[in-house]
Amino acid sequence: MKQAVEMMKNIYWIGVNDFETDLFESIWPLPEGVSYNAYLIRDRKNAVLDTVKKGFMPQFLEKIQSALPAGESIDYLVVNHMEPDHSGAMKVLRDLYPDMQIVCNARTVDFLKGFYGIESGLKVMGDGDKLDLGTHTLQFHLTPMVHWPETMMTLETKTGTLFSMDAFGGFGALKGGIFDDEVDLANAENEILRYYANIVAKYSPMVQRALKKLSGLNIQAVAPTHGPVFRTQPNYIIERYDRWSRQDTEPGVVIAYASMYGHTQTMSEAVARSLARNGVGQIRVHNLSKSHLSYVLRDIWRYRGLMLASSTYNMKPFPFMEMLLSTLQNDQLKNRVIGVFGTYSWSGGAVSAIRDFVEKSGNELLDPVVEAKHAPGEKDIEACRQLGQVMAARLS
Ligand code: FEO
Repeated sequence: MKQAVEMMKNIYWIGVNDFETDLFESIWPLPEGVSYNAYLIRDRKNAVLDTVKKGFMPQFLEKIQSALPAGESIDYLVVNHMEPDHSGAMKVLRDLYPDMQIVCNARTVDFLKGFYGIESGLKVMGDGDKLDLGTHTLQFHLTPMVHWPETMMTLETKTGTLFSMDAFGGFGALKGGIFDDEVDLANAENEILRYYANIVAKYSPMVQRALKKLSGLNIQAVAPTHGPVFRTQPNYIIERYDRWSRQDTEPGVVIAYASMYGHTQTMSEAVARSLARNGVGQIRVHNLSKSHLSYVLRDIWRYRGLMLASSTYNMKPFPFMEMLLSTLQNDQLKNRVIGVFGTYSWSGGAVSAIRDFVEKSGNELLDPVVEAKHAPGEKDIEACRQLGQVMAARLS
């Protein structure tokens, strides 16, 4: 797509697709790519809302110029968020349009100077302030820590379009369809939830605060900086964000296990079989040595039941399990029902550490906690079956 795409009269999508980056933020896999969405509003004053990652400047500029008649300039660049996947092209854009004012809030100023040495030509807006473009009006709503301190959302009041930066966005490049009425949303939701679980989850309380703040606004469309643009069903994504940020979950169980020689895996299989036999329809099993943390987190964020299982490694949980526990602690996981099991060979460590984690997290710990020495015997396997049964009963 070399041309800007008109999403409604005089409002254009000018984003780009990134199929090249392997790891978003150098950690989260992008097998389906990712889009950096930006927008242009044409009016008596032309405004660009957010930019793209630095390396995509040529494509970005091509799109801007395809929508701007010759001789017209950009009057404002609205900076909703300073993370470089959205601000990276800003400096070059400013050099090309030196009279373009940068519209931001007070907390953005430090980032502008620090990242790009930009200190002048700023238009600093407060919460609720408005900017008249001619027939369109922009209103700024500060939403700190969704996902950085300076993050804000911009509402175009005539059309009710909320330019929401990372919030409501998703992984996955836009493969032809850009708007919700063109995209298979059930499929896209997997990558939107993965984005939420990986990038936004830690800030769920701030998402709740932002949703309450936005609830009084007339929102007819939601235009995030990643993934599909919700121009016909804004509530589709707002409702999901509300659920995900309240940690309101679906019935189902994730088994996340770390197994060195297959013994903890044998126990996981016994638990999974018991879950299925006892009527749990949604079971997701992740071997932490194979599944990337990104996907494990996505599934954990969706389902109420969680089984954490690990062999003991140097008297602690296996390293990939430690990484998972540390991330869940950071994300303040709650409202989950959790089972714990694992193995050891001479001194314990893994099972007691995971049990401690669950107890301190405030989530519900299921009985029995199963710990097998060396390889699981029939008594251990029977305890795993019982754990699966208890979980199934708890979820029904
Ligand atoms: Fe897509 Fe927080 O940047």
